[in-house]
Amino acid sequence: MLKGKKIVLGITGSIAAYKAASLVRLLVTRGAEVKVVMSESATQFITPLTLSVLSKNTVYTSFEDGNNGWNNHVDIGLWGDVMVIAPASANTMAKMIQGICDNFLMACYLSAKCPVIYAPAMDRDMYLHPATIQNIETLSSYGNILIEPNEGELASGLQGKGRMSEPEEIVAFLEDFFTPIDSKLLGQTVLINAGATIEPIDPVRYISNHSTGKMGYAIAEAAAKRGAMVILVSGKTQLSTTHPNITVKHVTTANEMAQVCFDHFSESAVAILTAAVADYAPVNVASQKIKKSDEHITLELKKNIDIASELGKRKKTSQLLVGFALETENEEAHAAQKIVKKNLDFIVLNSLNDAGAGFGTDTNKISVIHRDGSRSNFELKSKAKVAEDILNEIEKLLP
Ligand code: CTP
Repeated sequence: MLKGKKIVLGITGSIAAYKAASLVRLLVTRGAEVKVVMSESATQFITPLTLSVLSKNTVYTSFEDGNNGWNNHVDIGLWGDVMVIAPASANTMAKMIQGICDNFLMACYLSAKCPVIYAPAMDRDMYLHPATIQNIETLSSYGNILIEPNEGELASGLQGKGRMSEPEEIVAFLEDFFTPIDSKLLGQTVLINAGATIEPIDPVRYISNHSTGKMGYAIAEAAAKRGAMVILVSGKTQLSTTHPNITVKHVTTANEMAQVCFDHFSESAVAILTAAVADYAPVNVASQKIKKSDEHITLELKKNIDIASELGKRKKTSQLLVGFALETENEEAHAAQKIVKKNLDFIVLNSLNDAGAGFGTDTNKISVIHRDGSRSNFELKSKAKVAEDILNEIEKLLP
């Protein structure tokens, strides 16, 4: 997959720069053409000569070419099929966000028309800092693609996340990146809702449920990898995503979730409703904290809108609507009723009776029940693999 690919490799100042030698070697042995661009501080960790020998190319460290001429950053930015910044230091990530052009590498980054992939390397606490978390989100909004660092021992001696991905992992990522996508979801808009809704009782209390959003986020990632443009309507969750194909819309209540889903349904080829939507919400939301008074109090609840049923009414024949059901008893009959009531194309059933399935776990055991009553059962597996199974079922139904 990498044969003949033109790769601009940006190297910034981090101890992980020593791994760039192996990375260049692996890329070149797979037939890629590599042009290395280094920041000045990167040259203190590894010499341009080493990388020039391994890449069989000139290494660029500044605007001057050493012969009274200049290096044209625009040419390099336009030459690459991809620009890979590995290691990407915290400093360079911040500069990428601001567009600070104080070295040749940044000039190439700003001129690059090709996709940019970056592999951060930094100490644990730097990676966990809100500024870095925010920077990763911003870079993802620019379309820059993150190769997440690994957990392990860091140069500082601390343990944690921040080790740059290994050269073999970066090469595997690039091979995957250049593998043409063969999926019916390529270019399709997919609407997914995920997580729990929150129904306020007063300014400090609410009704919600145990959903963590893991299944919905896993499906969003898997669909994005298949080339879908995903709109992820997210209720309460600790999760985040940086995939450039995923647009996250954060919501709180069932009504807000419904509104955002309705807004985006008509443009979507598929909607997958994984969210645990609260069925009821308080009739009155107190404007002040409710004070403790009688031994018993009654909270009056009213039925929330059923997002799935409403989308089922609006569904065109060209659209697919997939629901989820978490049942504790009489599961198959309940799931089958929901298919009809909500006009779903199929329902994904998970049972709280299965160990390893349901809220908060990293695994799930599902069955898919179709409109005609046919049922496919799947083994217990990671939510990432379950997401692939669900998308495969969807692809079988797409034209
Ligand atoms: N759902 C929805 N809006 C609601 C409730 C549920 O869109 N207000 C969706 C869920 O996201 C899920 C499907 O409907 O895809 C089934 O949810 P579930 O809670 O199992 O069904 P309910 O209709 O709420 O039925 P019950 O709680 O009585 O089992």
